Amino acid sequence: MSEQVIIFDTTLRDGEQSPGASMTRDEKLRIARQLERMRVDVIEAGFAAASPGDFAAISAIARVVRDSTVCSLARANERDIARAAEALTDAPRRRIHTFIATSRLHMEMKLRMSPEDVLQQAVAAVRFARRFTDDVEFSPEDGSRSDPDFLCRVLEAVIAAGANTINFPDTVGYAAPELFGQTIKNLRSRIPNADQAIWSVHCHNDLGLAVANSLAGVVVGGARQIECTINGLGERAGNTALEEVVMALKTRADHYQLHTNIDASQIVPASKLVSQITGFAVQPNKAVVGANAFAHASGIHQDGILKARETYEIMRAEDVGWSANKIVLGKLSGRNAFRQRLQELGVLPESESELNQAFARFKDLADRKTEIFDEDLLSLIVDEEHEHEHFHLLSLKQSSETGEASQAELVFAAGNKELRSTGQGNGPVDACFNAIEKVVHSGAELVLFTINAISTGPQAQGEVTIRLSLDGRIANGVGADPDIITASAKAYLAALNKLQAKSEKLNPQV
Ligand code: KIV
Ligand code: ZN
Repeated sequence: MSEQVIIFDTTLRDGEQSPGASMTRDEKLRIARQLERMRVDVIEAGFAAASPGDFAAISAIARVVRDSTVCSLARANERDIARAAEALTDAPRRRIHTFIATSRLHMEMKLRMSPEDVLQQAVAAVRFARRFTDDVEFSPEDGSRSDPDFLCRVLEAVIAAGANTINFPDTVGYAAPELFGQTIKNLRSRIPNADQAIWSVHCHNDLGLAVANSLAGVVVGGARQIECTINGLGERAGNTALEEVVMALKTRADHYQLHTNIDASQIVPASKLVSQITGFAVQPNKAVVGANAFAHASGIHQDGILKARETYEIMRAEDVGWSANKIVLGKLSGRNAFRQRLQELGVLPESESELNQAFARFKDLADRKTEIFDEDLLSLIVDEEHEHEHFHLLSLKQSSETGEASQAELVFAAGNKELRSTGQGNGPVDACFNAIEKVVHSGAELVLFTINAISTGPQAQGEVTIRLSLDGRIANGVGADPDIITASAKAYLAALNKLQAKSEKLNPQV
């Protein structure tokens, strides 16, 4: 029997710390459900003390997730830990993950604390967390740049205080695989009670080495938990990509002799969901989940593939959840077929009234677009959720003519108020944004605008991603519609909603 590597997903916490990637409570719930469906062992649902919104999202996840352990991050202080424990109350399996920085640089410059005080605070935090759950994880932040002698003292003490997972972070992506693996091995051999905890790795991708470092931590260091995110989402260059470590362990089981619990067929649906919700597109050549990952465009390979797939493919696309881009529903599809497909995609609304609303939107879309793909259904559900947010589009009229300024007339909701506005601009998209700003006065700067086709064919819906920046805060918004001007207006309003939600949030590491 091969040993298991625990998969700890932190898309909803570390992933969300990525500028622009903030998610609403309902979006987080939807991702958590997909993570559970994928059989992730531990879901880090957020940082409960960050904001009332984060607290509410973790509580909601704790109420619905039954099989995976639900975890909240907490800095090493009683207030954060009590808040995490409260948010996790309803989870059948709950973990508190507490951390404090241990590198000289972080202790001196960020915490302004002495090493002795850091050690005392780490121990006190773990002891306090154990009052609420017997599943407590401790991380020495910036571990890979910390003094090994000091780490030995801290980690031995927190294990003695009750931490049963020791997570070793490469917070700034500075580690090299051979050294990283060896450091963990040395720590485990020097710390007398090391075997009373499961060792874990948490790597950032600043040098593109997060996956390699994680695997070295497992193979050389003996870690048996990997912390990772869907699509490698995360601050700066991101975190270890779940899909990459899981498929490396699976595809090269001959070498690693290890396994995970992950249902790999749920990887691509999870990747699409996270990308659609956060507005972080997946690069086409991204391993496993990129659109080209299994496409053998080069002529030389085509011939080989036709003769024997294994000549150029080491994994099967269908095993990680790629399905042929098939038409799933159309104008004549009934409510039952619609409900069943949403269920298969894991996005079935909770109430019958929400399902009825979604079905009405589906019929409307099917009138404008004869072929409805899975991607259309996913974006329809995302769009449906936008309707419950503060700002959402009600109607839009625009006109443009060569050589003339474009005109836009918008009606949109702001809470329970209905706002009307007109705007002029350098093209219809600019006219829409000007009309919105004329009444909202957010003052946000537009820093990114991208448009992609959601599926294939001339009738494909346009999916617009917008990034707004205001006073150092960044928020992405996504909008989809067969009409790309409407998609742009929806995306702008979605970004404004996220910008508002972001204003009250605390970053645990800053
Ligand atoms: O990167 C890091 O150090 C973290 C810790 C909070 C585990 O995210
Ligand atoms: Zn991190």
